[in-house]
Amino acid sequence: MPTVTFRNTEIECAEGDILRTVLTGADLSPHNGVADSLNCGGHGTCGTCAVEVSGETSDMTDAEKRRLSLPPHSQDSGLRLSCQARVEGDVEITKHDGFFGQKITQEWFLNQWVNCHTLLAHFVRSLRKGTERVFIKISKLIFG
Ligand code: FES
Repeated sequence: MPTVTFRNTEIECAEGDILRTVLTGADLSPHNGVADSLNCGGHGTCGTCAVEVSGETSDMTDAEKRRLSLPPHSQDSGLRLSCQARVEGDVEITKHDGFFGQKITQEWFLNQWVNCHTLLAHFVRSLRKGTERVFIKISKLIFG
């Protein structure tokens, strides 16, 4: 029987069991804070059950791939959705901080900040150009 280790607790389960079910069955939660109540109930859509898994688990489901490709997760985070991953051998689970338990590195955060700043700067430039065009059209209408 595989063993799931989470927060210094070892839980035995059957091979093929859903990781989230194993944890909740042992009164442990793969969710942080209010996400324990505000989640999709295991449908693979909210992303709040994301955990870092070391050990043997099933391949990612399509729902899991889809959700983990959306912020604040990223495809290269190495996280799994515990409601989608099936236990296939002994596993060790780590839950990261944040509503989604997202794994954010300083580099990732800085990249997001730079992307956001670049996008904002582009938006302001576009807005200014658009505003200038509107003023030019209005002044042509008024003054000919
Ligand atoms: S509980 Fe919502 S994605 Fe797993």
